Amino acid sequence: MTVFGELDTETLRDRVARQLTRSRARSTALTDAVDDEDLIRQHSKLMSPLVWDYAHIGNQEELWLVRDVGGREPVREDIDNMYDAFQNARADRPALPLLSPTETRSYVREVRDKVMDVLASTKLEGRKLVENAFAFGMIVQHEQQHNETMLATHQLRKGDPVLHAPLPPAPPGPVVDKGILVPAGPFTMGTSVEPWALDNERPAHQVHVDAFVIDKYPVTNGMYLEFVDAGGYDQQQWWSEEGWAYRQKASLVAPRFWVRDGDRWLRDCFGVVEPLVLDEPVVHVCYHEAEAFAAWAGKRLPTEVEWEKAARFDPATGRSRRYPWGDEDPGPEHANLGQAHLRPARIGAYPLGESPLGVAQLIGDVWEWTSGDFHPYPGFVAFPYREYSEVFFGPDYRMLRGGSFGADAAACRGTFRNWDYAIRRQIFSGFRLARDAGPEERLLDEQR
Ligand SMILES: [Fe+2]
Repeated sequence: MTVFGELDTETLRDRVARQLTRSRARSTALTDAVDDEDLIRQHSKLMSPLVWDYAHIGNQEELWLVRDVGGREPVREDIDNMYDAFQNARADRPALPLLSPTETRSYVREVRDKVMDVLASTKLEGRKLVENAFAFGMIVQHEQQHNETMLATHQLRKGDPVLHAPLPPAPPGPVVDKGILVPAGPFTMGTSVEPWALDNERPAHQVHVDAFVIDKYPVTNGMYLEFVDAGGYDQQQWWSEEGWAYRQKASLVAPRFWVRDGDRWLRDCFGVVEPLVLDEPVVHVCYHEAEAFAAWAGKRLPTEVEWEKAARFDPATGRSRRYPWGDEDPGPEHANLGQAHLRPARIGAYPLGESPLGVAQLIGDVWEWTSGDFHPYPGFVAFPYREYSEVFFGPDYRMLRGGSFGADAAACRGTFRNWDYAIRRQIFSGFRLARDAGPEERLLDEQR
């Protein structure tokens, strides 16, 4: 296991510097890919202009690392309000007197230079915010999360394709989807030891989980197409009341970015319109669509606890792993993460990323909707501020787990929790199915 909590200060500083540099390279690539006009344009009311995200990344870095951790003078105190996500709704951001692309680039560079200086001179101890370089880790994750949001903006952008990446690996052999029985019994959810885990992932706590069955793979385009072709979007019985109301209001007929072409469906993938890849996980569906599909298929979505148990539980030892494959950090052989490929990988592509129970592609590819709302774990303590998670707790949000091809390894763990509205579709969201264990399966489980 990477015992990252026990790294010496120099190794830790090195690790932080590499992560900061890696994140910035991605922000730069996503913003350099388009011209200035494109950077300041709002490509969808759902999103900020890319240049807002970029300056906001710099502003958060300034607030936490330059001013708080470093105790330095502000770089641009005058822009704090403009780049405060709580003060400006996404739809209103284009009307603000935003920094120009050139000003933004020089602002984020100036902040970063100071941060590298702060990193070199700060003792990484004595204060909870800096222990294990937590604040730096939080800022790395923040930048990577915005990089994923910026990638979603790119997907919404009209015009010629500007992003290019190699295809994900193909499945090395024949693929058989199947339900996997997850045994009843206690499971340790969340973490108290992961150094850069955020407040909502903490603390580790034991939960009892009944036996259930979860699909080995996420739902694919091919499976989802059957639901579309069977008239699932016109049959109210599969939808919750709230889901049906939204389906009517938004006139949903298929996943976002599916394009009708005569009698077949195509998919717009970052500006390239292509035939559906049938064994690729479906992406850009909202919670309501996932829930309706599950009802139509005679199954249900997993709860968040079930998802995490399927991902982390090791039946041989009873302990919870950091990741499905073990405790090592994600590598390209484990999961489709970090925008290395600009699409989910076909099912079966990552046999080395499977959990001990044999559940595959839990990390990377697509965020997976789970049922239930956003709640704190028992013993939750808001850190380092209430606005990170606590203000979002309640019934308004649904939980997404596992990360997507657009999420970075730094912002994706077995314990990582993402939340969004049930109607969100522009995110890289898919799902997998679960069901209660039947009487025979329970018996089998008890006899193990
Ligand atoms: Fe943010």
